[in-house]
Amino acid sequence: MTIQWFPGHMAKARREVTEKLKLVDVIFELVDARIPYSSSNPMLEEIIHQKKRVIILNKADTADEKVTQEWIEHFADRGLPAVAVNAQEGKGMHKIERAAEALMAEKFERQRSRGMKPRAIRAMILGIPNVGKSTLINRLVKKNIAKTGNKPGVTKAQQWIKVGKTLELLDTPGILWPKFEDQRVGYKLALTGAIKDDLLHMEEVAGFGLRFLEEHYPEKLQNWLQIEDLPEDITEILALVAERRGIFDRYRDPDYSRAAELLVREMRQEKMGRVSFDFPSDLLVVEDDADGGNNSEN
Ligand code: G4P
Repeated sequence: MTIQWFPGHMAKARREVTEKLKLVDVIFELVDARIPYSSSNPMLEEIIHQKKRVIILNKADTADEKVTQEWIEHFADRGLPAVAVNAQEGKGMHKIERAAEALMAEKFERQRSRGMKPRAIRAMILGIPNVGKSTLINRLVKKNIAKTGNKPGVTKAQQWIKVGKTLELLDTPGILWPKFEDQRVGYKLALTGAIKDDLLHMEEVAGFGLRFLEEHYPEKLQNWLQIEDLPEDITEILALVAERRGIFDRYRDPDYSRAAELLVREMRQEKMGRVSFDFPSDLLVVEDDADGGNNSEN
């Protein structure tokens, strides 16, 4: 389901998240491992303020492993713990609890030294639609059917799921909106299935996807097309896709529009293999751009 975000929805989402923030020690920011930048909320840091955060790169099974590792290092360099998981198959789940424990270690050590027994770490999942929040929660619930129930002093409606020995997770995630400004972000959200409707022109999305694969993963594109020399022109590639799959219009010309739809569908189904669409090096360019803007004002 694609949610259309209007200012009213955004304000409500922000309010709900801000309320829940009061209940937790740690935020689990869930992003799509293929697009850790494009699938993050543009105002996250402002919204969560100083709250401790673990970045969970979900759907790691679909992303380029080498790039995912680069992202983990990129975040670590900025003091942000990040873990890669596959919520669908329950892989890497233990890393989540461990990362939360590491974040709280200092505080708990202080409490112990004062003779206090640290209580469970309380956490909540936060992320834009379709990054796998419900899947992750269901995965964690299944393993820990016994919920801990309501806590005194905590809003009645909130349920906590016990995860491992030291963690309690809020059973409803916080949902935030995606980035809208950058068209490339929209294309990447569409190519990974986060946006599924017709808000974007499919031929443009397919064109972006083809150019991206040509530049970053040419072998995967060659394999998918079963061709050695890729045509320069995107339209020619789409014509080739149409020919190979028998997608013609009533004049027996290639049907570009349906070929584009097929291409986007197969990219979403990872028919080209594991592909990452955001690289940490792109982000440095974004950060530089932002700095450039500030500098030019001074
Ligand atoms: P949300 O709560 O954040 O909105 O996301 P949700 O859990 O509904 O997950 C969105 C889609 O992503 C689901 O596919 C889900 O199965 C898939 N997904 C979640 N975690 C993983 C993962 O680790 N790996 C992979 N490969 N997929 C994952 P769906 O319901 O079938 O929707 P569709 O997008 O396939 O149509």
